[in-house]
Amino acid sequence: MLIRRPTDIRSSEITPREVFLKRRELLRTGLLAGGLAMGGSAIAAVLPPERRAKLPDVVPGKFSTDETVNSYTDVTTYNNYYEFGTDKSDPFENSQEFESRPWTVKVDGHCEKTGIFDLEDFIQPYALEERIYRLRCVEAWSMVIPWVGVPLADIVRRHRPLSSAKYVVFETLLDPERMPGQRSRNLHWPYVEGLTIAEAVNPLSLLAVGVYGEVLPNQNGAPIRLVVPWKYGFKSIKGIVSMTFSENRPRTAWERAAPHEYGFYANVNPNVDHPRWSQARERRIGSTGESGLQSIFGAPKQETLMFNGYGEQVAHLYEGLDLRQNF
Ligand code: MTE
Repeated sequence: MLIRRPTDIRSSEITPREVFLKRRELLRTGLLAGGLAMGGSAIAAVLPPERRAKLPDVVPGKFSTDETVNSYTDVTTYNNYYEFGTDKSDPFENSQEFESRPWTVKVDGHCEKTGIFDLEDFIQPYALEERIYRLRCVEAWSMVIPWVGVPLADIVRRHRPLSSAKYVVFETLLDPERMPGQRSRNLHWPYVEGLTIAEAVNPLSLLAVGVYGEVLPNQNGAPIRLVVPWKYGFKSIKGIVSMTFSENRPRTAWERAAPHEYGFYANVNPNVDHPRWSQARERRIGSTGESGLQSIFGAPKQETLMFNGYGEQVAHLYEGLDLRQNF
């Protein structure tokens, strides 16, 4: 297996200076967890493999909402992750034995810098940022989640897409042994998602490796998942093992399963109903004071905002596009 680490960008150029200096100091004194990363990498591990491990050097990121954050229990027990089952409690119940290390991400297609990268090398040396984002599920519920991750734009640019690259396509791990939901045929596996290049380099797009300042739990997509807060939650693919720069628009998992219900863009849009229900309003999980599944019953409905409230950052991406046709 080819394991490469990026050599073309010095971490001092990207990581905020104080974080970089602190990390270097810790490295010098040998205090950073894990010591030197595997595979001869010169940078220490920032993603400890232990469950609920605290992530080091997380800096506040841009675009965080000041709305009330959902509880850790809501965020980690009311999930969609069909690889571990279709009920909201299945991902938590069925993913605890899943081992998310070692983990590599393959980068291929229309870009200069292809390869198979160890997870640490894939995300370093970019600073880990906390972004408190709303997540609006297509099923008309929502949560507010304190993600930790690195801007997707940094990762995309480092791999130097060619001008022929129009889309970034992601795939989830395919392993029915370890992901029992993949033994059923309710979706075509592996789960596939994609963004246009412009969407991928929008400053809101995040590759999350943590939540609540800790490494991602399995049910939330450990060890690495996408977060695109202006789109319905199904675009935020979990358990990513590949990133492909493509000339062609991919057929995503949900488009393939039900093309008249789930489109490629999947921008949160209160004016375009799902064929089977309205998207005008949503229930905020946890707003009754109860956790997880209980909290959706009786939760008051609130208005859904265009682009999930992130229009200022993203509306320009869709100028001239009929969002009824391109749902
Ligand atoms: N990614 C994969 N691989 N498989 C899935 O079933 N579900 C999606 C998305 N990412 C899904 C996935 C859906 S429908 C939603 S709403 C979000 O994950 C839920 O993310 P959360 O459970 O962390 O809140």
